Amino acid sequence: RLFNADEISLATALIAQAATAIENARLYRDLERSLAHLKQTQASLVQAARLSTIGELAAVVAHQINNPLTTILADSELLLSDLPDDAPEREALLAINRAGQRAHAVVKRLLSTARRSAPEDKAAWVEVHQTIRNTLDLISVHLTRGGVHLEVQLESDPPSYIRAPQGYLEDVWLNLLLNARDALSNSAEAAMGVRSQRLGNTLEVLVWDNGVGVPPELRQSIFEPFFTTKPNGQGTGLGLYICKQIVTQVGGQISVESAPSQATIFRVSLPVKTAMED
Ligand SMILES: Nc1ncnc2c1ncn2[C@@H]1O[C@H](COP(=O)(O)OP(=O)(O)O)[C@@H](O)[C@H]1O
Ligand SMILES: [Mg+2]
Repeated sequence: RLFNADEISLATALIAQAATAIENARLYRDLERSLAHLKQTQASLVQAARLSTIGELAAVVAHQINNPLTTILADSELLLSDLPDDAPEREALLAINRAGQRAHAVVKRLLSTARRSAPEDKAAWVEVHQTIRNTLDLISVHLTRGGVHLEVQLESDPPSYIRAPQGYLEDVWLNLLLNARDALSNSAEAAMGVRSQRLGNTLEVLVWDNGVGVPPELRQSIFEPFFTTKPNGQGTGLGLYICKQIVTQVGGQISVESAPSQATIFRVSLPVKTAMED
């Protein structure tokens, strides 16, 4: 039969709507795809940056140190077990073994910090001050080289727990502390530090230095990926970007305060709990 004008216009309208629906579905799918792609790109950028410079180097060095260390530990233990209790060599061997164990602990911490980790890394409860101490244990010698004064004031009572993937917070402190160190000249007054203060359910961690400072017009840009004022080969411009990613991921905030001839302060505010709870 022939369709009348009303039926045809109804059919046309329906077709138009169906076409729109199909187009919407396609757009939606495209959008979802782009979003997934964006997330993946961002995750791999963060991943790449975590492994950049220090991370990668640390992992390589740690692995290389581990083998000779195993020999030192195993052989000193073997010799100790063969020696009579009153042997004069005992003290020296014990010292070697203890030193080896200390080095082994450093390597372990280094590896867990630099460990290759996936974006879907599982978050677990960590005590924030513990992550700060882990980092300081690794680099305080490096930071204070050349006479830099390092001040550590941690308000670790009550404890401050937060859920974060292993090694992530250490990354934040590592980047902030190394930046602070980079900002310092070789003057006798060069000083930097890390301080924490608990304000209710927020833990503020301040990483400060009395170095060159951040000019007001750069205060936003420094958190952008690849922004660096350091010479080629020295800066990646990813440190603060990563800090911001990680801090945001765990529900916190990061900001900078800096005025000419005053200390530069990076402030990290974290939502914390006094006890681990699920
Ligand atoms: N404590 C600081 N004092 C002065 N400038 C800083 C400080 N921390 C960071 N900056 C500035 O922010 C820039 C970006 O830092 P970052 O993202 O860690 O990259 P990078 O250290 O590789 O340059 C630095 O190049 C520097 O200009
Ligand atoms: Mg840096």
